Amino acid sequence: MPVSTSVPRSEPRVGVWLIGARGSVATTVVAGCAAVAAGLHDPTGMVTATPLFADTGLPELSSLVFGGHDTVDCPLPKRAEALAAGGVLPHGLPAAVASELAAADREIRPGGPLPGDTRHPDELIASFTTDIQDFVRRRGLTRAVVVNVASTEPGPTGTALPPSSLYAAAALRAGCPYANFTPSTGLNHPALAPLASASGLPYAGRDGKTGQTLLRSVLGPMFAQRALTVRAWSGTNLLGGGDGAALADPAAAAAKNAGKERVLTDTLGTTPEGETHIDDVPALGDWKTAWDHISFEGFLGTRMTLQTTWQGCDSALAAPLILDLTRLLTRAHEAGATGPLPELGFYFKDPAGDGPSSLGEQYAALAGLAERLREREPGRPGEGR
Ligand SMILES: NC(=O)c1ccc[n+]([C@@H]2O[C@H](COP(=O)([O-])OP(=O)(O)OC[C@H]3O[C@@H](n4cnc5c(N)ncnc54)[C@H](O)[C@@H]3O)[C@@H](O)[C@H]2O)c1
Repeated sequence: MPVSTSVPRSEPRVGVWLIGARGSVATTVVAGCAAVAAGLHDPTGMVTATPLFADTGLPELSSLVFGGHDTVDCPLPKRAEALAAGGVLPHGLPAAVASELAAADREIRPGGPLPGDTRHPDELIASFTTDIQDFVRRRGLTRAVVVNVASTEPGPTGTALPPSSLYAAAALRAGCPYANFTPSTGLNHPALAPLASASGLPYAGRDGKTGQTLLRSVLGPMFAQRALTVRAWSGTNLLGGGDGAALADPAAAAAKNAGKERVLTDTLGTTPEGETHIDDVPALGDWKTAWDHISFEGFLGTRMTLQTTWQGCDSALAAPLILDLTRLLTRAHEAGATGPLPELGFYFKDPAGDGPSSLGEQYAALAGLAERLREREPGRPGEGR
């Protein structure tokens, strides 16, 4: 049963700075947070709202203050109406949380690089850093967490920092814990390694695990533990929305598929035959259908097949996990954690640091983190990591 997520009013306020703040996932995060904080909906899908995290000192949802960067200017309330029309948000929710959407909208700053942008990467990092620092200062926030939920970008070519890495550098410079819910490079660029280790900040992994890969991280270990031989594992995804359009670019899809296939290699101990494909089907909007076809071999070489179909709404699957990550990174920062947090591997295709790959073991590691956070008084510096 979920534990309470409501509301001591005097609590310190925590910033959530979303890169891609006008997208489907970001809008669902802001609207969903307001809806749950107001008691309009249960925190279904939020792992931090389960008894595992009772008394761990996580910030209340009502204490979160949203802002962010985006390269488009569609107002957040309008974006929320479009999501409700598409069935992603409940009908009537945008009106019920209109003031929270408008407040977040006022805190969104122009991102970059914009088409034809001539600013040097250092200028962009400086400008993003200033935006985040202004937000923290103006709103009187104790701290802020930066989460990347912008469109998936193609993998980097050469040594230049891609936009997601410019934002990651800005997060570190602004003193903010960081999570990358997308397959984009973000903090994983080698040029950012010295900055990351010198920053003394905690950070989480790359590319959220919400559907097909979530299933793979459960089924892969099952085949391995039952000593069944996986011969081939093939997958196809159909989706629309902004994410579907971004992933129509083969270079962006390659970044996403690499993560899906990495989970198989890590859990099976070998890379099976088969590929993963992503098709953009605009008519599906934010709904995704993912098929997996697993060909495996049992006793005496007998050949068998498992097929799975996952039909999910990506924004509704991602948003509660982003609220979880925000709460966990905030509390970990407060408790003095630094560097990669492998205990958050539960949430990612590409966890930060060394940790297990199967969902069961990742959940156990997350439970260990909950226990350690419970033992540390809020505000008391921890030992670091
Ligand atoms: N791994 C998962 O399970 C999972 C699940 C859901 C979403 N995601 C990822 O989250 C991201 C967002 O998904 P979505 O459905 O909200 O997509 P979306 O297209 O609705 O939103 C993306 C937003 O990013 C903005 N953006 C693009 N380039 C930018 C830049 N340089 N600076 C700032 N903003 C920029 C866009 O204008 C848009 O508003 C995608 O990368 C997607 O792959 C991952």
